[in-house]
Amino acid sequence: MPVPLFATSLAEHMPRIAERLTEVAASGRYILGPEVEAFEGEFAAYLRARHCVGVGNGTDALAIALRALGVAPGDEVVVPSFTFYATAEAVATIGARPVFCDVDPATFCLTPEAVERALTARTRAIVPVHLFGNVAPVAELRRFGLPILEDAAQATGASLNGERAGTLGDAAAFSFFPSKNLGGLGDGGAVVTDDDAVAERVRLLRSHGSRDKQTYTDVGYNSRLDALQAAALRVLLPELDGWNERRRAVAAAYAELGLDGNLVLPEATPGAEHVHHLYVARHARPDELAAHLGAHGIEARSYYRVPVHRQPAMAPYLPEAGPPELPGTDEAAATNLALPMGPELIRSQIEEVVAGCVSGST
Ligand SMILES: Cc1ncc(COP(=O)(O)O)c(C=O)c1O
Repeated sequence: MPVPLFATSLAEHMPRIAERLTEVAASGRYILGPEVEAFEGEFAAYLRARHCVGVGNGTDALAIALRALGVAPGDEVVVPSFTFYATAEAVATIGARPVFCDVDPATFCLTPEAVERALTARTRAIVPVHLFGNVAPVAELRRFGLPILEDAAQATGASLNGERAGTLGDAAAFSFFPSKNLGGLGDGGAVVTDDDAVAERVRLLRSHGSRDKQTYTDVGYNSRLDALQAAALRVLLPELDGWNERRRAVAAAYAELGLDGNLVLPEATPGAEHVHHLYVARHARPDELAAHLGAHGIEARSYYRVPVHRQPAMAPYLPEAGPPELPGTDEAAATNLALPMGPELIRSQIEEVVAGCVSGST
């Protein structure tokens, strides 16, 4: 039996999901309406946030939230370079300029010192990314006095000092892409905020910038969370904490079985409850180890090998002097290796992965 990178399964919940999808299909209410409102209320309550506004995907959630926070064309937005491309892409799509900062390769998250180096008089917002299910040190970014948009796409259910990721900044973007910790049956996303005015503006922007379909006050988006996705997510949300608990147990088992003898294991930010969207360790020769594991039926892969500031599409946004020096990013990109993770991973598979890492490192 191969050991998959994403050890997740919705099989147990499919009958209930199918039932709920049939009900929504029969209701004829597919765009916004009661199912989306119910999910928005339940997700906000889960996070202990005031507002959740469902949108089409996590990338739109980032772009719409940035605009709702007041970011305008020409403004600079600080983002880590070691992240999924969409974090910076969203900044560029609204005409703003992504300014890349470094990460700590131990936690894979940005640091306040790295952010400070990237600030200029034109900086209008900071986007900390809760990468791989860890939580970025958001409270320490407050001292810069700038709006903070959390990219919480990979950290649904994580927390920092008891507060949920997604409620630590001024607004947060979530993704319900199927592989995420809370994933739907297709694309989906949400903006979460405690700020009434920001929430109102996100609601306006997700529907073409119109409240009444007569007057259009903004050039907006057609980006709503589908009622069918909301129905599926309502079935799955109550499972999230249990799934995340099992993910943490898998991470603990990797450590307990001595994986740190062969790889540098991921560190949580102090005070963070990590949700291990991916279990990403570091190794001097990750490609060789991945090939060795693959030959033993164990899936492993490196993420973001070319960090975002080195992507061709980002060239126009780089300083004239050339790409910034981001040594932590380069180190994370060159050495990271994601190993199998998920609520369905069983003890014998975890042991197989550790044995494979031992035999592949000698
Ligand atoms: C860190 C991060 N930001 C943003 C996104 C974008 O989310 P989506 O794929 O729903 O647009 C993703 C996931 O795909 C992500 O991992």
